[in-house]
Amino acid sequence: MRAMRATAHTNIALVKYWGKRPDGGRDLNLPAVGSLSMTLDEYRTVTVVRPRAAADAFALDGATLTGAAADRVAKHLDRVWRTRGAEAGPRPSCEVDSVNHVPTAAGLASSASGFAALTLAAAAALSEDMVEGMAEGDGADRRLLSALARRGSGSAARSLWGGFVRLDRGEEADGRDCIARPVASRHHWDLKMLIVHTTTGAKTVGSTGGMELCKNTSPYYGAWVASSQRDLDSATSRLQNRDLRGLGEVMEHSCFKMHASMWAARPPLIYWNGVTVEVMREVQRARADGLQGWATSDAGPHVKVLCEAATADALVARLESVVGVVDVKALGVGPDPKVEAAT
Ligand code: PMV
Repeated sequence: MRAMRATAHTNIALVKYWGKRPDGGRDLNLPAVGSLSMTLDEYRTVTVVRPRAAADAFALDGATLTGAAADRVAKHLDRVWRTRGAEAGPRPSCEVDSVNHVPTAAGLASSASGFAALTLAAAAALSEDMVEGMAEGDGADRRLLSALARRGSGSAARSLWGGFVRLDRGEEADGRDCIARPVASRHHWDLKMLIVHTTTGAKTVGSTGGMELCKNTSPYYGAWVASSQRDLDSATSRLQNRDLRGLGEVMEHSCFKMHASMWAARPPLIYWNGVTVEVMREVQRARADGLQGWATSDAGPHVKVLCEAATADALVARLESVVGVVDVKALGVGPDPKVEAAT
């Protein structure tokens, strides 16, 4: 085992993943719907995995991880280790040091970059050859790493590439056709994602619990799942054709359908706050004034606005003026993850 560092960038879903497939076994973490995302250029996680003589020790942003969070990391290291086969014996103890370069207390999901970076650093540290072939060949190595990352967090499967990435749902029970792949490079289109922070608090209900609640209680969950493949195909082709209006419309529709399914759960799952709604309305008003931007939001109260780079400054100024907005940041399309030797 050796000490390795991985940097992975977070991503925002243009067509959302929300819900898990009932088949395939829980640890495979297969999504009920496919998704499409844009990798971001600044928000990222840097993770170092190194050998440790004593028991495992994990830290996030300088604080020791304990309890369920530590168990989740240990379980993920075990998954990566098991790819070496049964004859590899017990997994060596690891020290994991992770730093999120995402504004702290922003409540923005960092599980995508977090599990992508952990998967890459662990694979490189625990196995000499798993990450080596990542940049070459037919991409099979990276798809395998992406499938491993998915088992830690669904959205992490998409952070194995820069640019724009699609994760297909697949049909096979063993998940072999649930595959992420890049659909356009980061140079395909000069887009920005404006991250509109609507509060400084952290998120309340985790995504796995929220998905489970929707599946079990929301009458709209079935409609959400049934209509998602069409959104995915249409958004993918609009992205490839650089049709911002077309892509933006599908993106907003996917977001609002996901949240409608959450609102119809029992008890209702409301991730938004009042400022979230005011920002959404301002995006609509800006469009009516000729400023083209489209909004989306995830399992939290922040809004993300997709626009062309040339429109970003004007839209940022408008969104900063919405009462209650804490901060607006314009991020570009992000790069591939990076793996290097650490000390
Ligand atoms: O990767 P998870 O389990 O944190 O789920 C992510 C769910 C959403 O962020 C709401 C949507 C998505 O596709 O990223």
